[in-house]
Amino acid sequence: MAKGEIYAGLDIGSTKVCTAVAEAFPDGRIDIIGVGIAQCNGLKKGVVVDMDAAASAVRESVDIAQKLSGTEIHSAVVSVTGEHIASQNSIGRVAITREDQEIRREHVDRVLDASRVIPVPPEREIIHAIPRGFIVDGQGGIKDPVGMSGRRIEVETHIVTGATSFLQNVTKCVQRAGLDVEEMVLASIASGLATTSQEERNLGVGVVDIGGGTTDIAIFTDGEVFYTAVLPIGGSHITHDIAVGLQTSQEEAERAKREYGCASTSMAGSDEKIKIAALGSNEPKELPRRILAEMIEPRVEEILEMVRKEIVRSEKQGLLPMGIVLTGGGALLPGIIESATRMLEAPCRIESPRGIGGMVETVDSPIHSTAVGLIKFIAAERSADKNEIGG
Ligand SMILES: Nc1ncnc2c1ncn2[C@@H]1O[C@H](COP(=O)(O)OP(=O)(O)OP(=O)(O)O)[C@@H](O)[C@H]1O
Ligand SMILES: [Mg+2]
Repeated sequence: MAKGEIYAGLDIGSTKVCTAVAEAFPDGRIDIIGVGIAQCNGLKKGVVVDMDAAASAVRESVDIAQKLSGTEIHSAVVSVTGEHIASQNSIGRVAITREDQEIRREHVDRVLDASRVIPVPPEREIIHAIPRGFIVDGQGGIKDPVGMSGRRIEVETHIVTGATSFLQNVTKCVQRAGLDVEEMVLASIASGLATTSQEERNLGVGVVDIGGGTTDIAIFTDGEVFYTAVLPIGGSHITHDIAVGLQTSQEEAERAKREYGCASTSMAGSDEKIKIAALGSNEPKELPRRILAEMIEPRVEEILEMVRKEIVRSEKQGLLPMGIVLTGGGALLPGIIESATRMLEAPCRIESPRGIGGMVETVDSPIHSTAVGLIKFIAAERSADKNEIGG
């Protein structure tokens, strides 16, 4: 059997670091061969605030993934997110001046370069410039125009930028853990690749990754990413609301949310009771489950309302035939599908990583979507590079 390439995806999240190791085969198959998770308090809203804590969580998760996969990891594809991220679509245009009007690779390179020319302030840098498709003499939907005839070639490119200092801190944190950063990938794009099929991305699909500190949105149309956004709010805000509301510790609030939480008060029966350990008391107090739901519901609605506004801003509301995929740990809250379907006015569903082999059960949770998607991203990119060189 042909041996594949080994890739490591390192998702540095606001609550945990997840390392996924996979073998990617030339036929496109990806087998997960190791996964490691470490709790992490080194990030706030997606950006590194405690380098030591983040680096040691990276090291811990990599060690677990190494052991499980029997590989040594020296570099990884790393996720980035945070409010500093910005994105836009940009058009590049080039005229074909050759007499025979045949489009060559150099025209494609030139038009791609032209589309990447956007004003970037000195304190920011480009993370992604992803071509969404070419237009030749007004005819759109062209994936590879090399060899075609035309007078004018255009390309639409999705450009993602981030604040250099925040990106450097991610690199420093990974390096401090003894690894090199192979590439940085926006968390929402990775989550989208992990939880949707190419067919769904061709038809139009939205992905909402509700994490601890951020909610990351990616909208895919015509097979490629069309719109991305990062909201500085997530499941940790829900936990915080519970801790304040019930006067209990963050840990106890987190436990209560996972054990008894639900997205809407209508789901909590009026006679259901839960037990919460109050701060400064040894005796757990008994409360109606409805009170917990009353603390969760407004925050869930706030998050979903912010997501709805982003979908409206993308101008794709009502135009995503494959609906909206919810992923990330926040999607595990019972009742979230119903609330999201109502508030986003689109069919919503929960997805974990799909379209992979190997240790499928180990990554069968929405919290693994970003890490698995990082591997899908680099495997697709490397195989495209190979085809370009070969062809
Ligand atoms: N069963 C559950 N019910 C409700 N919420 C849950 C459940 N399991 C996990 N969560 C929440 O999911 C969040 C963590 O999700 P995830 O692991 O995707 O975040 P992260 O990647 O660390 O953070 P971010 O993506 O914001 O950087 C936490 O807020 C946690 O409380
Ligand atoms: Mg995450």
